[in-house]
Amino acid sequence: MVRRFLTLSPVISRLNLNPGIFLAASPSLRLQRQNLKPKISIISPSSASTFQRTRAYTTRTRGSSSLPRSESWKLDDDGLVVLGIETSGDDTAAAVVRGNGEILSQVISSQAELLAQYGGVAPKQAEEAHSRVIDKVVQDALDRANLTEKDLAAVAVTIGPGLGLCLRVGVQKARRVAGAFNLPIVGVHHMEAHALVARLVEHELSFPFMALLISGGHNIIVLAHELGQYTQLGTTVDDAIGEAFDKTAKWLGLDLRRSGGPAVEQLALEGDSKSVMFNVPMKNHKDCNFSYAGLKTQVRLAIEAREIDAKCPVSSATKEDRRNRADIAASFQRVAVLHLEEKCERAIDWALKLEPCIKHMVVSGGVASNQYVRSRLNNIVENKNLKLVCPPPSLCTDNGVMVAWTGLEHFRVGRFDPPPPAIEPDDYVYDLRPRWPLGEEYAQGRSEARSLRTARVHPSLTSIIRAADSLHQQTQTSQ
Ligand code: KG4
Ligand code: ZN
Repeated sequence: MVRRFLTLSPVISRLNLNPGIFLAASPSLRLQRQNLKPKISIISPSSASTFQRTRAYTTRTRGSSSLPRSESWKLDDDGLVVLGIETSGDDTAAAVVRGNGEILSQVISSQAELLAQYGGVAPKQAEEAHSRVIDKVVQDALDRANLTEKDLAAVAVTIGPGLGLCLRVGVQKARRVAGAFNLPIVGVHHMEAHALVARLVEHELSFPFMALLISGGHNIIVLAHELGQYTQLGTTVDDAIGEAFDKTAKWLGLDLRRSGGPAVEQLALEGDSKSVMFNVPMKNHKDCNFSYAGLKTQVRLAIEAREIDAKCPVSSATKEDRRNRADIAASFQRVAVLHLEEKCERAIDWALKLEPCIKHMVVSGGVASNQYVRSRLNNIVENKNLKLVCPPPSLCTDNGVMVAWTGLEHFRVGRFDPPPPAIEPDDYVYDLRPRWPLGEEYAQGRSEARSLRTARVHPSLTSIIRAADSLHQQTQTSQ
């Protein structure tokens, strides 16, 4: 069945985008965030919406056969329970989330020790680390939720962007669980998950809204029109802000066991943020793109000029040496965030022209757990009469909850794949998308520097969904 979907079109792939699925499921998808009740709801197998969903589900997944009636409860909105699996980067994470937003469990196994030991993790090492713990992480997530696989409505898993070898571990596990228990599967975009988890936290957050997504590998600002529909207003032309935090921490000899960002944030509290004069990047670019490679170089030169030895941990540094390091940390953080502030201000102006009714700006991704980032961006957003929505730090850094929640959002509107076979052939090619843009680039914000680096990039999530929708419409009109 999965393979048959693949032959429909090169852009409509295994990622839950079969137009037939969408067609069947859409009538019952009027669910609004406001309708989601804050407590566990009673399962009602006889409701009209349950019937619709059950029909939609069986139409696509089983052909002429149908789901046993007893399974129809799984498709009731609040009764939906989804397992989310995340392995795109350094963390192996899983969580179980209910359709009403209740987090039933959340488990994360971090590779921070490896990071601290080697100053970075090679893809092969990271893959091995994920493989070692994935079964346990998923089992723990189910146990802590007090559920078994049989209680799940679907499995959601990050399929990109990220390291291919790492993504593979999560996808393979998700397909094994889904295959063994006959569950549909939802392929999730990691950056969309960072943005949408804000809707689990803030019930008022409805589309359209803006999102600044700042992590170790990504630095994007998007306008979220609706689920799966994003315009990318800006991105980084080189490094992301998280990478600049991580390198600054490494060169300053900080403890990397909790990743570099928190270590820099903490040391910065002791420093004078105006003592080292770093230049704010891209001052002359009237767009919403970012650049952190130059700032990284400025930091490195400042560290060299002060003869700071990264091999000497900050905990053993002299008072003066520690003061120098703190000044660099604080000055770096101020300028790195100033760059975000300037670009966000412009992006909000652009976004309000495109969607004047925007009320919220989401800031998410690992770097959004930084308190200085949150308070500075809050000022910018409030000055523009918008409300800042920042998930709590534990949901800003990589986690399984955001994947489960994004899976739920797409599952409700009928975007998912049928259960994989219980035993997958050895030569099965997984649908992994290491380089996968979230939205379509806004023409005014296009960066020439970045456009040169687009080889082997997957079509964006937004373009895939649009293609599926238009195919669906064509099917409708020709019927
Ligand atoms: O989203 P995330 O957990 O993983 C990726 O998708 O990359 O983001 C990780 C990044 C790392 O670069 C880490 O140093 C940074 O987020 N980070 C922070 C803080 N906490 C995590 N950066 C600055 N301040 C923090 N408190
Ligand atoms: Zn992330």
